[in-house]
Amino acid sequence: MRVLVTGGAGYIGSTAVAILLERGYEVTVLDDCSTGHFESVPSSAKFISGSILDSKALAEALADCAAVIHFAAKSIVGESVEKPDLYHEVNVEGTRRLLDEMARLGVSKLVFSSTAATYGEPEIIPITEESPTVPTSPYGRTKLEVDQMITAESRLGLAAVSLRYFNVAGAFNSKSGWLTERHSPETHLIPNLLRASVANPLKVFGNDWPTADGTCIRDYVHVVDLIDAHILALEKLTASKHEIINLGSGGGYSVTQVIDAAAKVVGSDIPTQISARRSGDPAVLIADISKAKKVLGWIPTRNIKDMVSDTWKSQNASASK
Ligand code: UFG
Repeated sequence: MRVLVTGGAGYIGSTAVAILLERGYEVTVLDDCSTGHFESVPSSAKFISGSILDSKALAEALADCAAVIHFAAKSIVGESVEKPDLYHEVNVEGTRRLLDEMARLGVSKLVFSSTAATYGEPEIIPITEESPTVPTSPYGRTKLEVDQMITAESRLGLAAVSLRYFNVAGAFNSKSGWLTERHSPETHLIPNLLRASVANPLKVFGNDWPTADGTCIRDYVHVVDLIDAHILALEKLTASKHEIINLGSGGGYSVTQVIDAAAKVVGSDIPTQISARRSGDPAVLIADISKAKKVLGWIPTRNIKDMVSDTWKSQNASASK
């Protein structure tokens, strides 16, 4: 089966492409490389350069595809506060055009990259798929709007799963080498702490949160486990049904605990500097992943040490290229 991966040149998308190819799927990638990297796309994938806002590029990319995994999006929470119109244009309007082209061409299977940011500040931990959706950023609002759009589309026959990611981390060692997380600017904790130095310490965004050690708690999931869930979802898609499923590990680590795990991996202390809280950060986000286990038969197997260690190896591999 040929699968269209939108955003297949990005961190999570390129990992999906490499794993799909290694499992025997044929893959087409549609990416405008506005944030992704063409070099991250394996050469055995068919690559179409273009935006999801371009219906012609979408039609070309959808040719011969039986399903779509849709990653292409703007995804930085802070940037979305500054540029809400851009986030609406790419995330909501872009997905509208993708869904319209899929309907027109009879492609009726979709796995969508949604986010924990759709829930906002949780009232109860762990967060289930039934928890209230009160996003606190334009980014979260656009992803929620798309989830709702997909539900409406499923009533017309679309088979769809929205996967709500918590904190994705780690890296994949593909047949052609490590795929690494390369955002610019990099906002994520693990790649940032691995680059910290005495001259440029990791900024810890607040140590006065209402948690045991005062730093924020997040639910980290390894990108390879995450993609396994996408493939399980792809294989379980049911016509006229839209499932929304959380993907995390079901447990939480504080920023301090992640820093401690990283110090063990690299064998030296991570230089840090306590900074002000980052606006929009909730204190604690932990997923209830029982639905993923039940509906997809998915169990994440890689722990925080694996995530830090794989990110470390991937960064070292890309630095030595
Ligand atoms: N953090 C630091 N210093 C840094 C980077 C992060 O202290 O340099 C802290 C953050 O304050 C947060 C934790 O580390 O407490 C994790 O931060 P990340 O930026 O790695 O991840 P987020 O939790 O902010 O974001 C993730 C996804 C988003 C998604 C969001 C949902 O990356 O796409 O979860 O809330 F929207």
